[in-house]
Amino acid sequence: MSLFDELEFSNLQLDQHGPLAVLTINRPKALNALNTDTLAEIGQAVDLIAENADISALILTGAGEKAFVAGADISELSEMNNVYSGRELSLGGQEVMQSLSNLPLPTIACIQGFALGGGLELALACDIRIASPRARMGLPEATLGVIPGFGGTQRLPRLIGMGRALDLLLTGRQVDAEEALQMGLVNYVSDEPLNKAREVAEQMMRGAPISLALIKEAVRRGAHLSVEEGMEIEADLFGMAVATSDFAEGTRAFLDKRRPEFKGE
Ligand code: CAA
Repeated sequence: MSLFDELEFSNLQLDQHGPLAVLTINRPKALNALNTDTLAEIGQAVDLIAENADISALILTGAGEKAFVAGADISELSEMNNVYSGRELSLGGQEVMQSLSNLPLPTIACIQGFALGGGLELALACDIRIASPRARMGLPEATLGVIPGFGGTQRLPRLIGMGRALDLLLTGRQVDAEEALQMGLVNYVSDEPLNKAREVAEQMMRGAPISLALIKEAVRRGAHLSVEEGMEIEADLFGMAVATSDFAEGTRAFLDKRRPEFKGE
C-alpha cells in the first residue's frame, strides 16, 4: 500500500517503492511536454514528497521510450504575446524547479528519450542525471524565438561550465548520451536507465538522511560564494551533523564492524 495511492493526477504518476518515490511525467500526446497543469501537478507532487518523512529518494522520469519531457508546451507558449504573461510563466516554472532542487533528499532524473528545453531544465533541477543511450538533450529555445525560462541559463553553465553551456544554448543543438556524459551533463549512461537509477538511489539511501540533506544544503549554498564563505557554511552544517544520533550510530556501527541503522534523527 503506497502513501500516494489516494492521489489522482491527470498528467503524472507518483509511485512509492518502500522509501523510494518514482514520479513519472505522463502526457504521451505531447511527448510529456510541460503545460501549466502538468507543471502545477509536479509542484504538488514535490510538496507531497517533501512532507512525507517515509520517502528518502526520488526518481523522476517520463512515460514511454520516446521522451523524458519534450519541453514546455509549445501550443500554450504560442498564445503568449506580452512581457507580463511570459514573465509569469517563467517565474511559475522556476518556482517548481527550485522546490524540486531544494528537496532535502537525493533526486535522480532518468532520461530515456528526448529531454529538450523545459524538459532538460527539469532534469537539471535534479541532483544527478542518468541517460539511456537513445537519449537526446538540448535547449532549442532560441530556434523558437524565446530563451530557456525554467532555470536553464543559470543551471547549465553552473553544471558544465560557461563555454559548453553557451555552445548548447546558442546553437540549440541536441547532444546524444555519450557527448552528454563527456561534458558532465549526465552522470551515467545505461541501457536500463531506470534500473540504474534505482541502484544509485539505493546506494545513496545507505547514507544517513540528515547527512544527505546537509550535503545538498552545503553544496547549494556554497556554490556562489567564496571558498572561505563556503567553508563557514560547511563547518556550521558539520557541527549540526555531529549533534545527530545518526552520527553516534554511524561511528558506533563502524567500530562494532556492523551496518549502521539510521533513523533520520
Ligand atoms: N509542446 C507541445 N507539443 C509537443 C512538444 C512540445 N514541446 N513536443 C512535441 N509535441 C507534440 C507534437 O506537436 C506532436 O503532436 P501531434 O502528434 O498532435 O502532431 C507530438 O508531440 C509528437 O511530436 P513530433 O511529431 O514532433 O515527434 P518527432 O519524433 O517528429 O519529433 C521532437 C520529436 C524532436 C522532440 C519534436 O517533437 C520537437 O522538436 N519538440 C519540441 C522540442 C522543443 O522545442 N522544446 C522546447 C520548448 S520551449 C521551452 O521549453 C521553453 C522553456 O524553457 C520554458
